Amino acid sequence: MRTAATDLVGIDLPIFGFSHCRDVVAALSNAGGCGVLGAVAHSPEQLDVDLTWIEQEVKGKPFGVDLLVPGKFAGSDEGGLDRDALASLLPDEHQAWLDELLDRYGVPPLPDDVRFPRGAGGMRVDPKSMAPLLDVLFSHDTKLVASALGPPPAHFIERAHGAGIPVAALAGSVEHARRHAAAGADLIVAQGGEAGGHTGEIATLVLVPEVVDAVAPIPVLAAGGIARGRQLAAGMALGAEGVWCGSVWLTTEEAETAPAVKEKFLQAGSGDTVRSRSITGKPARMLRTPWTEEWERPDGPGTLPMPLQPMLVGEALARIQRVATTDGSGAQQLATYFVGQVVGAMDTVKPTRRVVLELVEEFVDSVERLGRLVES
Ligand SMILES: Cc1cc2nc3c(=O)[nH]c(=O)nc-3n(C[C@H](O)[C@H](O)[C@H](O)COP(=O)(O)O)c2cc1C
Repeated sequence: MRTAATDLVGIDLPIFGFSHCRDVVAALSNAGGCGVLGAVAHSPEQLDVDLTWIEQEVKGKPFGVDLLVPGKFAGSDEGGLDRDALASLLPDEHQAWLDELLDRYGVPPLPDDVRFPRGAGGMRVDPKSMAPLLDVLFSHDTKLVASALGPPPAHFIERAHGAGIPVAALAGSVEHARRHAAAGADLIVAQGGEAGGHTGEIATLVLVPEVVDAVAPIPVLAAGGIARGRQLAAGMALGAEGVWCGSVWLTTEEAETAPAVKEKFLQAGSGDTVRSRSITGKPARMLRTPWTEEWERPDGPGTLPMPLQPMLVGEALARIQRVATTDGSGAQQLATYFVGQVVGAMDTVKPTRRVVLELVEEFVDSVERLGRLVES
């Protein structure tokens, strides 16, 4: 299956897969697609270890790396505050509300030997934290770099192009896509609102053809709601040159999804997700659980902007995840994670390779079926 997107990175199948888990990334690249490692929570040292490991596993097959490079974040107006200064902006009222919530659900504190300084949770989204990550990224054999949340900055694009690496950028609206194209992106991921993680409100079916037309001849990948071959065929029918999937890998054998969350995903239906600001401060689709519902209570303090919200809730989420088992405890009830509406179709644990094969098999069946419609 050759398309402009497969030619851009040198892969056999137009299936790109976002995952935080290096095992999924390697398995996907080895199956003929392009695994893309989500590196926003990586330290430079961990990124170096993971990329070295992936390189050994894929033996020259292409893989990519994805970072979050937001245009605006709290503190940027003040000249870019460092983490300590940002931590001092966390309101005591929010911390007290969160402490009470965890008490009410009986979530135990972290053990004494696990240190989690106030505000230490969160993502490396500020320019200072980003620079060493970029140094590691560009020292490896990456064949694609991707950036979400805003157009890729000029220095990022220049450096990638200088190294001969194409840049992908995620867009949730046609305006975003136009900005990415103007900034010099080589591949636009048109991500509809049904997707897991940060997302807009426009559905994939509406967004993809709009973006394809707006940024032509730049190739577009369809993302959001794609977990099976009929959806892959739909994405291609909308004019995309490939698809970009995130949720479907979370219940694969290789995924390191927390066991309690994996179990919830396997049970969930397509109506069990919600766009919530409760983890990152920006709307992100995740499983609806008491955690998301508590944050929506009108008598609650409301969420903080990025990057304060992840700094506020980092320790709480670590506490929940550490003890969340499948035993119905308060931590188990609260536990949530990013996932899209396709969670309803994720009902068995499979190897990543199997997911890819099934995507292709069902794609072929769909295309044959559509072909017969035309003949008749
Ligand atoms: C668990 C999870 C985390 C995500 N984190 C990121 C991220 O850090 N950067 C990014 O560009 N996209 C992220 N996304 C979005 C994916 O890249 C992808 O666009 C999306 O999952 C596609 O929709 P789908 O979930 O319906 O497959 C994430 C998605 C999920 C499910």
